[in-house]
Amino acid sequence: MAATSFKTLDSLDAAGKKVLLRADLNVPVRNRQITDATRIMRLLPTIQELAQKGAKVIVVSHFDRPKGRPVPEMSLGPIADALGDALGRPVTFVDDCIGPKAQQAVAAMQDGDVVVLENTRFYPGEEQNDPELAKAFAALADYYVNDAFSAAHRAHASTEGVARLLPSFAGRLMETELNALNIALENPARPVGAIVGGAKISTKLDLIGNLLEKVDMLIIGGAMANTFLAAQGVNVGRSLQEADMHDTARTIMTKAKDKGCEIVLPVDAVTATDFQANVPTRTVPVSAIPADAMMLDVGPETIMLINQKIATLKTLVWNGPLGAFEITPFDAATNAVAQEVARLTDAGALKSIAGGGDTVSALRHAGVEKHISYISSAGGAFLEWMEGKTLPGIMALESIFERAMPI
Ligand code: 3PG
Ligand code: MG
Repeated sequence: MAATSFKTLDSLDAAGKKVLLRADLNVPVRNRQITDATRIMRLLPTIQELAQKGAKVIVVSHFDRPKGRPVPEMSLGPIADALGDALGRPVTFVDDCIGPKAQQAVAAMQDGDVVVLENTRFYPGEEQNDPELAKAFAALADYYVNDAFSAAHRAHASTEGVARLLPSFAGRLMETELNALNIALENPARPVGAIVGGAKISTKLDLIGNLLEKVDMLIIGGAMANTFLAAQGVNVGRSLQEADMHDTARTIMTKAKDKGCEIVLPVDAVTATDFQANVPTRTVPVSAIPADAMMLDVGPETIMLINQKIATLKTLVWNGPLGAFEITPFDAATNAVAQEVARLTDAGALKSIAGGGDTVSALRHAGVEKHISYISSAGGAFLEWMEGKTLPGIMALESIFERAMPI
């Protein structure tokens, strides 16, 4: 899907208008503290632009998974405060997202004001995409702006239903995400490659299947690589792997060959008998993994191989760490490859696009976050997009566009 098929804020005449802005304020929180404010920060340009144009900005979002009833700990109140701090201006919080309270708050807004409404998932109709709830959202505003790419894989009342009822636009973050994804896989500079890591093939089958069609090179790491190696008869000892996926792994290898997609697998491994910080490790060729050991990271030969391969690419999409990066020293390969990706990106030789929860933490851990061309704000939505799935939140924006086109 090309980003150009959506209306953006460029064509929204927002002055004096009520704009319902679907944000993703589902930020990670621990002990009542926001541990990563990225999603709040990335939302600011859209809010600032709308407010500056004189719109009344009505922000709606889900937060966590309250399952259709009010859960006080999942109130958006504290997040609204954090948003106000980030904006450097007061933001009014309303403890309902529809009905008289929300309507009164909206009626009291001045042009340029920002309100945040309570968690949309406090209503069961949100996740059921209930048309009545969508209508209640639509009744609050003149226009709908969706800036929640990271929730676009959900067909919910505030992400999908309401987009069918109001003239709808992509916000700046949504626009940026769609442009980046377009550069990554739809119209990439070639050769284009992907690094796919993580634990299980079974959860990433669709993703690999779609990538084979689109990329010239697939670099496989993480525990998933063990399954591919084992499927080729390599003895991987006690490494995490999926014995029932060997046929699938072999089919993927054959299909890749047919498509002219090169598959890069680890050639050496950092192994240990326990998955613990700073345990004794042995680095061995993959053909010599001890029977009582597990492969917890790819080894230095593999790092060299991957870095050589990456140097031949113009575009790289990255999802999933190469090793068990949360525990030292099994972060070594992910760090080393991340640094090489950062170096090539800074040198202008590579466009690098990364996404998915673990991947972003891994790149942050490697200290290269600011040296990647684009890091998606999305987890599940990024994966579904890589799987080639249609994201309902985006489809709904597109269909409004088509209906709005002159016949
Ligand atoms: C996310 O964090 O991935 C999005 O906000 C969607 O949240 P969900 O997985 O609870 O639907
Ligand atoms: Mg999620």
